[in-house]
Amino acid sequence: MNAVMSTSTLEIRPSDHAASPEERAKRMTNPGFGRVFTDHMVVIPYKEGQGWGKGVLKAYGPIEMDPAASVLHYGQAIFEGFKAYHQPDGSIASFRPEANARRFNASAARLAMPELPEGLFIEAAQALIAQDRAWVPGAVGESLYMRPLMIATEAALGVRASSEYLFILMASPSGAYFPQGVKPVTVWISEDYVRAAPGGTGFAKCAGNYAASLVAQRQAKGEGCDQVVWLDAIHREYIEEMGGMNIFFVYQEKGETVVVTPELTGTLLPGITRDSLLQLAREQGFRAEERKITVSEWKNAIAEGRMTEVFACGTAAVITPVGHAKSRQGNWDIHQGVTGPVAAKLRETLLNLQHGLAPDTHGWMKKIVG
Ligand code: PLP
Ligand code: COI
Repeated sequence: MNAVMSTSTLEIRPSDHAASPEERAKRMTNPGFGRVFTDHMVVIPYKEGQGWGKGVLKAYGPIEMDPAASVLHYGQAIFEGFKAYHQPDGSIASFRPEANARRFNASAARLAMPELPEGLFIEAAQALIAQDRAWVPGAVGESLYMRPLMIATEAALGVRASSEYLFILMASPSGAYFPQGVKPVTVWISEDYVRAAPGGTGFAKCAGNYAASLVAQRQAKGEGCDQVVWLDAIHREYIEEMGGMNIFFVYQEKGETVVVTPELTGTLLPGITRDSLLQLAREQGFRAEERKITVSEWKNAIAEGRMTEVFACGTAAVITPVGHAKSRQGNWDIHQGVTGPVAAKLRETLLNLQHGLAPDTHGWMKKIVG
């Protein structure tokens, strides 16, 4: 019999079929990204008029849903992604999870979904990581990827905000997001499809944004590219993001290194890695700017040798250099298609911080399990 315990708001109901240490070790070898899941998950229900109910930590597994559940028809679904890392003192810490909790609620508000108290978001993470701590990988570059999700579960076909929701938190031991590791990617600058328009959901992490991106990603593959670069919906000129990551451009100007990332206009996802890198870049002595940048500026600055590197950033892949760009207006190489020193330095700085190998001067690491 497994003990049933409670944290202040969660019932802890350990699985009766958790993986054996041998099975776990096998599944954690070269886990890739998002393919392996731990023994448990947290589920918290919401009902209009009653608010968030008693949550439960229980065995990871399928959930039952009415076929009329509104998420299946009208797509009220939001998610987040953050990571937990082993620290040298034996504890486990997460990188800026409060920022993910805040962004989750910004997404919820945009999708007319209820906000989840930030404390409950963190408590769910603490409970799940504590329960499944054996699943946190140890190597630098590996981590336990946490995936919070909220879906609309009311069985009703009227087009309106659901009156019932489910918050689910799952965890996945992960290695490199891109199977090729930190090798630079080739990008296709998409002129046929847009990711987000003013007044839309670009700043929210909602499922529909990703569904709508897949055909462009398929087109990019067809053009021999790894990822899509998104342009703004109105002018089809200003660079917004790369796939599911924010993008940075590195210039050398009068002996100074300048990193530039598109400004947040409401159509970009405000990445937590993006925000962190802006701060870390300044501490490295680089100038960091948030402003608009066009495809022609990118192409010309490369041709003139003023732009030396381009890289994308996000929780899953950390920093991925961009080695080649392709579009209907031409193709160009960036830094001879190999990783540049600024991307390499920022990647190392961020990874060292996340793995506790450098001092956390910003208070970004939250100890989750002591
Ligand atoms: N842009 C999009 C569209 C994303 O899905 C993500 C990933 O979450 C990011 C950017 C990077 O955000 P973060 O650094 O918070 O992971
Ligand atoms: C990221 O972390 O950069 C992501 O976009 C996650 C992705 C799997 C949706």
